[in-house]
Amino acid sequence: MSILVVVGAQWGDEGKGKIVHFLARKAQYVARYQGGNNAGHTVVVGKKRYALHLIPSGILLKQTKNVIGSGVVLSPSAFREEVLGLEKQGISSRKRLFVSLGAHVILPYHILLDGLREDSGRGIGTTKRGIGPCYEDKVARIGIRVCDYLEPEIFKKLVAQNLKIRSAELARLKPLSSIEKEVFSDYASLRNFIKPYAKDTSLLLSQAIERKENVLLESAQGAMLDLDFGTYPFVTSSSPIAGGAATGSGISPSAIEFVLGVSKAYTTRVGLGPFPSEMESKRGDYLREKGHEYGTTTGRPRRIGSLDLVQLRHAIRISGINALAVTKLDTLSGTGPIEVCVAYKWKGKTISDFPWSRKIQQEARPVVIRLPGFSGDLGSARHFSDLPKAAQNYILWIEKKLKISIPTVSVGPDLRQTILRDSSLDALSSFV
Ligand code: GDP
Ligand code: IMO
Ligand code: MG
Repeated sequence: MSILVVVGAQWGDEGKGKIVHFLARKAQYVARYQGGNNAGHTVVVGKKRYALHLIPSGILLKQTKNVIGSGVVLSPSAFREEVLGLEKQGISSRKRLFVSLGAHVILPYHILLDGLREDSGRGIGTTKRGIGPCYEDKVARIGIRVCDYLEPEIFKKLVAQNLKIRSAELARLKPLSSIEKEVFSDYASLRNFIKPYAKDTSLLLSQAIERKENVLLESAQGAMLDLDFGTYPFVTSSSPIAGGAATGSGISPSAIEFVLGVSKAYTTRVGLGPFPSEMESKRGDYLREKGHEYGTTTGRPRRIGSLDLVQLRHAIRISGINALAVTKLDTLSGTGPIEVCVAYKWKGKTISDFPWSRKIQQEARPVVIRLPGFSGDLGSARHFSDLPKAAQNYILWIEKKLKISIPTVSVGPDLRQTILRDSSLDALSSFV
């Protein structure tokens, strides 16, 4: 039995979906614990490509049960769309997908508010999925949970109350009556759709743990988008870090045995905000095209940077990451010497711990070193020794610099393009 958390170690899109899918083959449960359909986890299985937003990546494996935990914000319409979309692709969610009764629901006015704020001139480049405004309601104690959504009387009362509270902002966009109409237009059908999936998922997971089953907790986003420890305010509104896995799934922190971080062999970020190791545009543009670095959810081009050891050390410490899975090593092939950011410089000072100050985060310049590059097709490598020597050395160098082991190296989107270096790591070995 093992309880493993898979966290994004950068600004999201590290390849969590692929790694979770790889490990989920031996998991009885996969659970999402935060975020919502702002996430986009791409999983490639043979010729098929799945883009998951709300549903855990374990859904693609017949034997795996999946949980959307109470820390997630759930848009009922996006949920239905994703379930039905998967069904069209031959994946059934019935009796193997469970939604927490405590998850908060995203309603049309949350999406309107997200858009309004983004367009106000103070935007941070959100996905405009209503994530932030829904979490705001949760914290303000006016949120509507799945269990409330399932009770029409309560739901009606809460919507009326919330529209009143948000009326000043909302009325700038549309008449309140038309927003209310939108909320209720498909309500009965959505409520009936969600009902069979709604469960006490904390209880479900605890029972699985009691039965000594393998549970995988799948983060959305990444450490640097964490509400507390990311590049605030250019962050998402939840806790993707490992600490969030306990509060967002309702299992005890003491049950979590292993934290696996996922990092690209370089760095990307979507949206606005500080990005100290961002590359000059020519090299960045080249890597973006080579690595198909466009958002799974919004299609926006991802900003590209070199691997950033300052940022990664921060992520490792904050989540207590025990080991790293490094993805997209293949993308660096044939791109010349590899640039790595080993520290920041700000006003003549060298910075080696990720700074809190938004001014320093924005103004810090990367101290970049160059390592020997490599070329050739890495996608066909199945063992570490199949990789070009310089590619092996890059991984070994990262291990040494970060004082962490890298048991998994990914060299392509397909499941088979996953190199396992050391499956003897205790907790990980239950999954491989
Ligand atoms: P996530 O949000 O962390 O799950 O990551 P995304 O799915 O948003 O972005 C990662 C992208 O890289 C997806 O299109 C994956 O199919 C792809 N991918 C994952 N691992 C690798 C890899 O090792 N090499 C290449 N070339 N693509 C990869
Ligand atoms: P996955 O799970 C990358 C970014 C947005 C924006 C900020 C806040 O695929 O790694 P939000 O809509 O959450 O309020 O936007 O967070 N963001 C992501 N960036 N990957 C994601 O998810 C992201 N989810 C949100 O671009 O900068
Ligand atoms: Mg993604």
